[in-house]
Amino acid sequence: MVISEKVRKVLNDQLNREIYSAYLYLSMAAYFDAEGFRGFARWMKKQAQEELTHAMKFYEYIYNRGGRAELNSIEKPPAEWDSVKNAFEAALKHEEFVTRSIYEILELASEEKDHATVSFLKWFVDEQVEEEEQVRGILGLLEKANGQISVIFQLDRYLGQKE
Ligand code: FEO
Repeated sequence: MVISEKVRKVLNDQLNREIYSAYLYLSMAAYFDAEGFRGFARWMKKQAQEELTHAMKFYEYIYNRGGRAELNSIEKPPAEWDSVKNAFEAALKHEEFVTRSIYEILELASEEKDHATVSFLKWFVDEQVEEEEQVRGILGLLEKANGQISVIFQLDRYLGQKE
């Protein structure tokens, strides 16, 4: 069954959000690199790559359902944050926003009785739990560091080595 225009449009908006997520995390990586936090930067670069794979999942799914992906403008992300902690707070806020968008699309797909899209989105529902948990974990450690630069650098080194 070919995808409805209504569902295609919201999936396409999500494709754009995923690319924006990659842009935002790459911008955070550039901020961390500029501040000398190579480990946090590396972690964010990996996140950015992961976001591009999410975007591609939406692209392929739209195609597989007989639709066409449209590439719209990508918003310019912020480039500066007040601190490492502040950047990770922004990352968590962004992931929560992405989770809400996935839920909204899922609700729409359910209303439209588009079971294939509901099934496709389930992977993203689980992925969002994991993504939020990862950022929340780092944020928790940053809160414990309480601004102590030596502890923040230790965490930077740890994340820089983490697979
Ligand atoms: Fe693709 Fe981090 O959500």
